[in-house]
Amino acid sequence: MSTPKIILITGCSSGFGLLTAARLASSGHKVYATMRDPGKKEFLEIETAARGGEKRLNILAMDVSRPDTIKAAVKEIVAREGVIDVLVNNAGFGIGGFFEDLSDADWRAQYDVNFFGVLNVTREVLPIMRPRQKGLVINISSMAAFSGTPAFGAYCSSKFALEGFSECLYMELRPHGIRVALVEPGSYRTKIFEENARYASRFFDADSPYFSWSQRLKLMVDQHARANHRDPEEVAAEIEAIIDSPAPSFRNIVGFRSRVRYWFVRHIPFKFYAWMVDLALPSNA
Ligand SMILES: NC(=O)c1ccc[n+]([C@@H]2O[C@H](COP(=O)([O-])OP(=O)(O)OC[C@H]3O[C@@H](n4cnc5c(N)ncnc54)[C@H](OP(=O)(O)O)[C@@H]3O)[C@@H](O)[C@H]2O)c1
Repeated sequence: MSTPKIILITGCSSGFGLLTAARLASSGHKVYATMRDPGKKEFLEIETAARGGEKRLNILAMDVSRPDTIKAAVKEIVAREGVIDVLVNNAGFGIGGFFEDLSDADWRAQYDVNFFGVLNVTREVLPIMRPRQKGLVINISSMAAFSGTPAFGAYCSSKFALEGFSECLYMELRPHGIRVALVEPGSYRTKIFEENARYASRFFDADSPYFSWSQRLKLMVDQHARANHRDPEEVAAEIEAIIDSPAPSFRNIVGFRSRVRYWFVRHIPFKFYAWMVDLALPSNA
C-alpha cells in the first residue's frame, strides 16, 4: 500500500462501492464510504470487519443528486481530517428501455446520478484538493461508454458523457497537481442488473411498438445477469491499484475480455459493429 490516504467513495451500499470501501479500509486507508440511505450500511460493515478494516471505515449519508447532502458530508470529512486525498465517483444505475419508451423524467433521473451526480460531488471536493496541489479523482465509467446497444441509450450516453467530461477535467486539473482516472469495467455481478435495475416508463406497455423487442432483451439481460459470475472484487482491486500508483493511467479497462472488446469497437467500422449487434439482439421489425 502507498501512504494511507483519506478517501471518499460514493454509492457504497452495494457492488463495487461496497467492496472498494471494505478493501481500501482493510489496506490501511481511511475511508469515508457514503450512501444515500445509511440504513443499508450493514453489509458494508460486515464485509469490512471480515477483512479487519472496521476501525478505518466511516459511513456518511450522501445522495449524489442532492447537493445539500454532498455539502454536509464533505464538510464533515474536512472538519475531521482537513483533507480529502482521493474521490471515487462510483454511484450509478442503469435504466433499460428504448428511446420512445423513455420519458423525459427517465432521462433526467439517469443523468442526475450518472453524470450530474459526478459533477455535484467533484465540484465540492476540488476546492479541498486544489490548494494542496494534489489529489486524485476516479470516475467509474463502463464499457458501455465505448459502444451503444439498443435499449441502453440513457445509460450508455450518460457514460459517454462522463468520459468526455473526464478527458477535459484531466487536462484542466493537471496543472494543479490533481490527477483524474477512469475505470471502465465490463459486466460484473452486482445489484445493477437485478435489485437496482430500472426500466423506462413504457417498458412494460404492451402497446409500445418496442414491446416484444424490449421484453426479449430483458429476458436475455436477466439470463446474462444470472450466468455472470465475474467477481466485482476485480474492479475494487483495479481502483486500489490506481490509488497506489504514483502515475496511474487515465483509462483503466478492467479485464482482458474488456480490453479486447475495446480494441475491437475502436478498429472496426461502426456499420459492421451494428450488424453484429443486430445478429445478437435481432429486432424482428
Ligand atoms: N456491475 C457492472 O457490470 C458495471 C459495469 C460497468 C460500470 N458499472 C458502474 O459501476 C458503478 C457501481 O455500480 P454497481 O455495479 O456496483 O451497482 P450496484 O450494486 O447497483 O451499486 C450502485 C450503487 O450506487 C448507489 N446509488 C444509486 N443512486 C444513487 C444516488 N442518487 N446517490 C448515491 N448513491 C446512489 C446505489 O445505492 P442504493 O442502494 O441507495 O440504490 C448503490 O450503492 C456504477 O456507476 C455503474 O454504472 C457497473
